[in-house]
Amino acid sequence: MRIQHTVLSLAFLSDILVEADIIPRSFAEINAHLEPRRRKKRSAAGLVDDNGWPKYFHEPGGSELANHYDSRYEHGILSYEDKQDTQVHMIRAYLDFFKKNGMETWLAHGTLLGWWWNGKMLPWDWDVDTQVSGPTLMYLGTHFNGSIYDYTSADSDPELVPPIERQYLLDVNPAIIERDRGNGDNVIDARWIDLRNGLYIDITGLSETEPSIAPGVWSCKNLHHYKTTDLYPMRETMYEGVVAKVPYAYYRILAEEYMEKALVITEYEGHKWHPEIKEWVKKTPAEIKQERLDRQEARRKKQQEKEEKKKAKEEKEKAEQEAKEREGTGTAEATENHAGGEKEDKARPIIGPEADDDLGVKEPEKEPFKAKRNAEPQQKFYLEDELPTLGRESSGLKHLRRRRIQKHS
Ligand SMILES: *[C@@H]1O[C@H](CO)[C@@H](O)[C@H](O)[C@H]1NC(C)=O
Repeated sequence: MRIQHTVLSLAFLSDILVEADIIPRSFAEINAHLEPRRRKKRSAAGLVDDNGWPKYFHEPGGSELANHYDSRYEHGILSYEDKQDTQVHMIRAYLDFFKKNGMETWLAHGTLLGWWWNGKMLPWDWDVDTQVSGPTLMYLGTHFNGSIYDYTSADSDPELVPPIERQYLLDVNPAIIERDRGNGDNVIDARWIDLRNGLYIDITGLSETEPSIAPGVWSCKNLHHYKTTDLYPMRETMYEGVVAKVPYAYYRILAEEYMEKALVITEYEGHKWHPEIKEWVKKTPAEIKQERLDRQEARRKKQQEKEEKKKAKEEKEKAEQEAKEREGTGTAEATENHAGGEKEDKARPIIGPEADDDLGVKEPEKEPFKAKRNAEPQQKFYLEDELPTLGRESSGLKHLRRRRIQKHS
């Protein structure tokens, strides 16, 4: 395998690395330091307004599906199978690349949710998302922007399917220096793009944007926030067959982003979770049809039950009324003078939101969703004490700092 580095350094990026012998602690500091120079450069170029940078990554758009391709490399929308194949190898190559270069990255968003289920991509998901620390992001920008990573997939039977040569481009957004959301055009910091078809991994950096107000809170430009202690120490695990990392408090992070429901429901987006094989399997058209029929039948049954209940209730009331009329002793006033409790009961309207449960009109309240609190991830990960180097020291920040110092000494 061959790595070509094209180290492209924007003036401001190299400035940072020259001036800071170590990686600066926060982007807020960098921003404050560079702001005046940047503004001058921008207006001189007359290209970028004060609001920020032009949008860097482009997708063909037009449909939800088309949004998942990089405009420069797409040749149309892939089939379900080709998409799966692309994503599996894309993430493997990506994790490989980071590992080989001693950089830390971890799974995020839907990609992390897929890990939770079975250590794989969710088959309906078009997004692949990873995160890196702010310093790693800067390092990527200065050392690896424009790198092309050659990778030959050889997991299939080589007799049947010959190994496929694939190439990935690491493209780093020059707007990584800005850590606020801006107008949202540049919330993606970098991409790992399959050059054959334009599908990509979205890489976002987390930085401590408000160290004085909110120390220990790490945010991406799309305003997802994480506590240091929820991220670190990272847990080592497997994803799509290769070593990967997930945040320490993966459960909390997932439950916050997707609600706990996403960790237990077993049917989603036309797929069904098959616990015996630990796979999300796409439903067949016949299954989908059958489900529709089952739903219709269930609705019909429910309606029928309701009507029967209502009828029974009406009959009962009618009988009671008739019995009362037969008794026929008390006057209206006498009835009114009955004990309070009874009076209230009788005065209670039969029809109305509170009473119609008895009439069978009101639908019974849906059972509130109860997640299994002690739910465990489907995917195994190494326990904390099984990892020799696990500890706060393993954070990307410290790691990179060490690298830089070594480089300079
Ligand atoms: C990465 O490379 C591209 C292509 O040359 C360039 O437009 C972009 O500004 C670079 N990004 C950084 C962070 O230097």
